[in-house]
Amino acid sequence: MNTFMKTVTPPANVVEEVHQFFKTDFSDEDIFSNSTLKSDLPGTTDWLLECKNLVDQHRALLIKMPKKENFNEHIKTHHSTALVFGQIFGRPLIQNEQGQKLIAVYDRDRHGSMDTGARYHQTREGGTLHTDNVNLPELWNYLFLSCISPAFIGGESILVDGLKIHKILKTDFPEVLETLENNYIWEMRGVADKLYEAPIITYKDDKSPQFRHLRPYMESAHIKAEKPMTIDQLFAIDVLDALTNSTKNQERFTLEAGNICVTIDDQVLHGRTCFSDAKDAISVEKFTGENGQVLKRTMERLWIQKQ
Ligand SMILES: [Fe+2]
Repeated sequence: MNTFMKTVTPPANVVEEVHQFFKTDFSDEDIFSNSTLKSDLPGTTDWLLECKNLVDQHRALLIKMPKKENFNEHIKTHHSTALVFGQIFGRPLIQNEQGQKLIAVYDRDRHGSMDTGARYHQTREGGTLHTDNVNLPELWNYLFLSCISPAFIGGESILVDGLKIHKILKTDFPEVLETLENNYIWEMRGVADKLYEAPIITYKDDKSPQFRHLRPYMESAHIKAEKPMTIDQLFAIDVLDALTNSTKNQERFTLEAGNICVTIDDQVLHGRTCFSDAKDAISVEKFTGENGQVLKRTMERLWIQKQ
């Protein structure tokens, strides 16, 4: 098993190439449909293919892109940078009923909670180590979380190596592993009003384990299906959550503006600590940068399918 997680800083030629490229205005759709990206950005493409190899080997990669001095320019450039990087890694997937391929992750409303039906990325709640591979029955490959702006306070990122957790389960809790390899019921929250069945742990062709886990979506799906989880099923996810919540098994860090975290989503569980935005902070959709405006903690998320 290769060591978990690497950090890289882009070489000067990549930063220069990206910044020159974005002197022209592009819409998101231009980037999604641009088949010439690779020839427009040759140095960046070569470097990103090396980054992709690092993710495949180490399962998680922190890319530290420098932030532009002017905050409005930073938002625009960093937004487009993440789109281009994702596009070079593979095919960005639609993430909601509105057909969006890039989702802004920020607290919509201090009253919002997953307990009352909100999606994780719309709240300020922490905890609940999970994979994003839960709304769709088909598993995809890379999760991009790109930091536009950190929180006023809190919001540490947490990553857990699924391969390490699997090894512990296999050695110390074989009966739990067996339960996790059997079907649970899942909600397709935010994507479709449907339920489906799938195990929490399955295996790739190379026999390495892959995870699908987000406890609140399973709990509500079992209630909707009127099939309460068995004691064995509850015990198994309790053990899994205890392991992923142990600081011994976690990498914690705070994403800074300009950072892009790429993980193999079905082999890395992720989460965050709870956070608070400044009292008068505003969303990226309304942000103009005028009159000392403060932006909420804002991440942008891509789900990428390998091609
Ligand atoms: Fe997530």
